[in-house]
Amino acid sequence: MLVERLAFSGLRNLGALDFSPSPGINLIVGPNGSGKTSLLEGIHVLGMGRSFRTRQLKNVIAHDASAMTLFARLQGEPALPVGVRRSRETSELEMRLGGEVARLAQLIEALPLQLVNPDAFRLLEGAPAGRREFLDWGVFHVKHDFFDAWRRTRRALKHRNALLRRDRMDTDALAAWEKELALWGERVDVLRREWMAVFVPVFEETLKRMIELPELTLRYSRGWDKQRSLQEVLEQGRTTDHQMGFTQNGPQRADLRIRLGRHPAVEVLSRGQQKLVVSALKLAQGRLLERTTGRRCLYLVDDLPAELDADHRRVFCRLLETMQCQAFITSVEHDALAGIWQSHTPLTLFHVKHSDAGAGQLVPQARIDFTTE
Ligand SMILES: Nc1ncnc2c1ncn2[C@@H]1O[C@H](COP(=O)(O)OP(=O)(O)O)[C@@H](O)[C@H]1O
Ligand SMILES: [Mg+2]
Repeated sequence: MLVERLAFSGLRNLGALDFSPSPGINLIVGPNGSGKTSLLEGIHVLGMGRSFRTRQLKNVIAHDASAMTLFARLQGEPALPVGVRRSRETSELEMRLGGEVARLAQLIEALPLQLVNPDAFRLLEGAPAGRREFLDWGVFHVKHDFFDAWRRTRRALKHRNALLRRDRMDTDALAAWEKELALWGERVDVLRREWMAVFVPVFEETLKRMIELPELTLRYSRGWDKQRSLQEVLEQGRTTDHQMGFTQNGPQRADLRIRLGRHPAVEVLSRGQQKLVVSALKLAQGRLLERTTGRRCLYLVDDLPAELDADHRRVFCRLLETMQCQAFITSVEHDALAGIWQSHTPLTLFHVKHSDAGAGQLVPQARIDFTTE
């Protein structure tokens, strides 16, 4: 999957943009507030249907615009157009793929994205939801029936929770939704477990290239008792779940446990070490995707020099480079990311500049060849 062309309008402070990114590394350089993160945000909205900065997509629409339109052409025979549009009047994000109205899952499948930004670097210390999202991204892209199983699980869970919030328990209705939840929740668990079995070795191999942490382990925790079926856990948990007003155990509580020896990794690793572990997790996702499906994912990397020191930045970029993924990497200073790349890697440098009107403008520069050191 390669983005051949991007055309954005009405996106934050960026004026109308239309350009052809490099199939390899795209360096986006510009001062603070020029619109670098907004550019990544636009690509993220296109591929994920949501921003990574706000829950409210209307905040992403430029103040002086009535709508935001984001378009990409993906390489292929024939090329695949992807577009989303969000106007101020409607709360819906309109999505189109190949000229047809599309659902979110189709968009996500068409444009597999990995985001590496300051929030992503807090994956280990953050709430389980972030790690579950990371896990499910991988399972979704590798296992075809995951999305359906996950959707049915969510629906059954929603119904069970609604029943639990009633004063009187409707046991017949509960039993029906529990059966559905158990069926699909167990399937979600199987698919997550199968994916983990292939992901862990790729992660370990990637981590080794970044940092030596032989005692580090990555384990999947499914969200309910290992010894018992989900059906049993739901049935036996009815009374306490009713008291709490929600389902306490199940696949919605799954997590990734990252430990160093006997300790949770966040308790013992330095901030810098944690960032390297997160980098390895993120890069391993793309490597496994390529190995299992032959597809490459697109990396959005925001302000890398602010997060990793020069040596680790170099290792990170080299790994990204060997994966031959398309990447958009932002930086305030060009120097911080210069001299890292090998001469055969396609690379384009973009400067994001403030224009007189105050809108950021992307000025594509000619391809720059760096010599290897
Ligand atoms: N909805 C919007 N419309 C217009 N400008 C916006 C909007 N939201 C934020 N901005 C402005 O866009 C600029 C771009 O910010 P950002 O993309 O974070 O820049 P960078 O990552 O280069 O530091 C900021 O100056 C911000 O004030
Ligand atoms: Mg920024």
